[in-house]
Amino acid sequence: MGYNLIYMANMTAPVRSIQPGSSPRGGAKGRAARQEAEGVGRVVIVSNRVPSPNEKAATAGGLAVALADAALPGTLWFGWSGRRAEETSNAAGVVTAGDGVTYATIDIAERDYQKFYNGFANGALWPLLHYRTGLLRFNRPDYEAYRAVNRAFAEALLPLLRADDLIWIHDYQLMTMAEELRALGVTNRIGFFLHIPFVPPSLLQVLPPAAALLAGLSACDVVGFQTQGDLDAFLENAVQLLGAQPEAQRYRYKGREVHAVLTPIGIDAKKFARLAVRAQSSPDAARLNESLGDRQLVLGVDRLDYSKGLPQRFDAFGRLLYLYPQHRRHVNFLQIAARSRQEVGSYQALRRELDRRAGDINGEFSDFDWVPLRYMTHAVKRNALAGFYRRAAIGLVTPLRDGMNLVAKEYVAAQDADDPGVLVLSRFAGAADELTEALIVNPFDADEVAVAMHKGLVMPLEERQARHAALLTKVQTTNAQHYCELFLSYLRAV
Ligand code: ADP
Ligand code: F6P
Repeated sequence: MGYNLIYMANMTAPVRSIQPGSSPRGGAKGRAARQEAEGVGRVVIVSNRVPSPNEKAATAGGLAVALADAALPGTLWFGWSGRRAEETSNAAGVVTAGDGVTYATIDIAERDYQKFYNGFANGALWPLLHYRTGLLRFNRPDYEAYRAVNRAFAEALLPLLRADDLIWIHDYQLMTMAEELRALGVTNRIGFFLHIPFVPPSLLQVLPPAAALLAGLSACDVVGFQTQGDLDAFLENAVQLLGAQPEAQRYRYKGREVHAVLTPIGIDAKKFARLAVRAQSSPDAARLNESLGDRQLVLGVDRLDYSKGLPQRFDAFGRLLYLYPQHRRHVNFLQIAARSRQEVGSYQALRRELDRRAGDINGEFSDFDWVPLRYMTHAVKRNALAGFYRRAAIGLVTPLRDGMNLVAKEYVAAQDADDPGVLVLSRFAGAADELTEALIVNPFDADEVAVAMHKGLVMPLEERQARHAALLTKVQTTNAQHYCELFLSYLRAV
């Protein structure tokens, strides 16, 4: 297949073995029509979580949010229906939605789901790839079910595939699907993007089937990462576990060439900014405003996940009130932590822990007419959430480890440029590589986070504006469309 050396104007890809090919520009429909006319192949997105077509409800999870912002009309999006059934489906249900995207989904059998999703994906891979080996629970039946569900995905996708489709698989739930597709004879170009971090060999080797997973990923033509650190770790693992000899970010394995690429994910920043302006006048935003009066708002928005550093964040807020008593009664911290993966023990334990810490902080600092910390465990709809971000003086994004963290980008996009809030961001979020004008903190150090919050709460307008302008330019440039086009242009170029 040909190499195309034309770059998109705003791409900043470093020198590498494959160059991103040219990508159609313009509106979604225009880009889709041009792609078809140029015969560049239909895009088939594969992910475990698929947004329900025309969904208006609250969605918590970066993958579905970012891809929904970028999926073009004509795209086939294949994944799990969200239903747990008696048996895993062997054929997909297909529906074309108003946005021109065709959704094809399968049900997963309850027994498979428990082992695949709660067991191996979220009980072993998720903690390991977030550097939390102490939380890793490995057992063979879970791993076997993981492989079986990946196989079932491949088998159900097979009859829907066309010869020139570009297959783009997403995230850690589907690391062995490409290998299954190859075993079924699929020769299409296959890409894989990992939304979460990758770990160095010393950690990955803790997982018994580490080498088998890497071999599974090596059935792809292109494997994409959020940060250069993740990409480097992947190549180190390929050297140590597969005996690969990478050159310029690519290596050969079983007669195939595997290209590792850096394609950080983004959001549709302009659309989100418009949503935030509209959301200001939503009934929910009005209620929040009324409840706050003239108090400043510190806001956290996350799935209720131990990777997000919520207990440490609560402690940091407590330290803010302790170290800077001038903020007492003048600030409220709202933590929206949408319940997630509640059948996994470590998530249940986290919820209990947060209940306790929230009680401790409110017990210590509340007054008869002021409760400092508000903590809720259900998701908020996007059209209200955007208004909440805009009202917040501090966006508090302090994961202990995170692939990218789209909340950080949403917070920046939602601000009023004339009077913006301040982003306090963990150095261990992928977003910190890019959003360097945020107040960057170590989330393990409660006092450091408290000092940053204080600095943000009293920061002069000019400094807030300057930091925000720089951040906004980045969020608008490395956006969802850029992410998709960059990844797909690499895939087209192999
Ligand atoms: P992850 O993919 O680990 O959940 P990200 O920060 O990358 O983390 O993406 C989270 C996405 O889900 C964002 O689009 C965010 O707006 C949304 N989200 C997260 N938590 C909530 C919540 N509590 N209520 C509503 N939406 C949420
Ligand atoms: O972005 C990371 C991610 O794990 C996605 O793969 C996933 O869809 C999302 O977060 C939410 O998690 P879940 O699908 O388990 O609810």
